[in-house]
Amino acid sequence: MAAAATPAAAIPPPPPRDPNNHPLAVLTRTRTQHRPVFISAPMVRYSKLPFRLLAQHYSTDICYTPMILAKEFVRSELARQADFTSSFCDAPLIVQFGASTVEDFGRAAEMVQPYADGVDLNCGCPQSWAVGCGVGCALMGAPERVRDMVREAKKRCGARFVVSVKIRVHGDLEVTRRWVRIVQEGSGVDYITVHGRRRSTRSSVPVDLEAIRAVVQVAQVPVFANGDVFTRGDAERIASVTGCDGVMAARGLLTNPALFAGFDKTPWGAVERFLDYSMSHPIPFRLTQHHVSEMLDGQVPKKERNIMCETTTTIVEFIDWLDERFILRRPGEEGFGSTVEIERRQQPST
Ligand SMILES: Cc1cc2nc3c(=O)[nH]c(=O)nc-3n(C[C@H](O)[C@H](O)[C@H](O)COP(=O)(O)O)c2cc1C
Repeated sequence: MAAAATPAAAIPPPPPRDPNNHPLAVLTRTRTQHRPVFISAPMVRYSKLPFRLLAQHYSTDICYTPMILAKEFVRSELARQADFTSSFCDAPLIVQFGASTVEDFGRAAEMVQPYADGVDLNCGCPQSWAVGCGVGCALMGAPERVRDMVREAKKRCGARFVVSVKIRVHGDLEVTRRWVRIVQEGSGVDYITVHGRRRSTRSSVPVDLEAIRAVVQVAQVPVFANGDVFTRGDAERIASVTGCDGVMAARGLLTNPALFAGFDKTPWGAVERFLDYSMSHPIPFRLTQHHVSEMLDGQVPKKERNIMCETTTTIVEFIDWLDERFILRRPGEEGFGSTVEIERRQQPST
């Protein structure tokens, strides 16, 4: 939380959140447009501010931060500085927390409330370190605690502040259905995002849409489907098959942040925009480089992308490298951010 670094007296409180960015207002709007809500997933390391601004520019309705560990967030100013940066344009925004206790989740939600449109509790992280700390998938075995965590966040932040949960499915769907029934009872949870894979399912295995549909049938709140959205067509098909109100994409947006806008590959203009956002809202240089490499997957040979990553060690060298090979426009230049095809100055170095 960049703003919290300076003494409280020196910084004015942020303006109230725009009610039009309330995720349930977004849902109402997309329903009238007869389409699902388009959501950018929480992604550790990747779904940071410049990436969220880019996704939002290309028709993503709601963006998530990477998972932030609530325990560290509530205890350490340094953790808050390192883990959370936002701006007024960064909306609708959901901050995702990994938490294991009612107190940590409630306090983290309360601290971030002025800067976000909602919080989400990660109940689906399968990594053993997380499960060992009682975070992520560990919560799939503790629905009563999740219900209490959501209830606490609602109590501290007020009923209008969105609190959601993101889950994976269990092999026995009745276990998942029971979990959902317990969590939604009296907790005030606003919606549930379901990643249609089990804790042990690899991401190369197709997402189980029937399992997501089974959650939709028991849920009394909106459900968003997550898994294997790589094109706008996937998004519409998955919403239709599962009956979900929204769809969330992770890997698909990493390689093509413009997918919800209907582009079948990253338009070159998105790379220009991303570099601009990364300059005005800095992230580590290697991360900027990695994002660009992902976005150019399938359009620039892997060998050339490897050379790009190995031979440039600063943002200045990186931009110079791109300038030498491609027509890279700057803000204010005609055509900035709007070209689709890559315009080369020289042929790929092979
Ligand atoms: C690089 C990466 C980081 C992720 N980090 C998170 C995270 O912080 N929180 C979370 O709930 N899920 C996280 N996930 C899982 C995704 O949000 C999503 O549930 C999963 O990738 C399935 O969606 P997809 O098929 O669209 O990739 C991450 C996935 C990837 C690929």
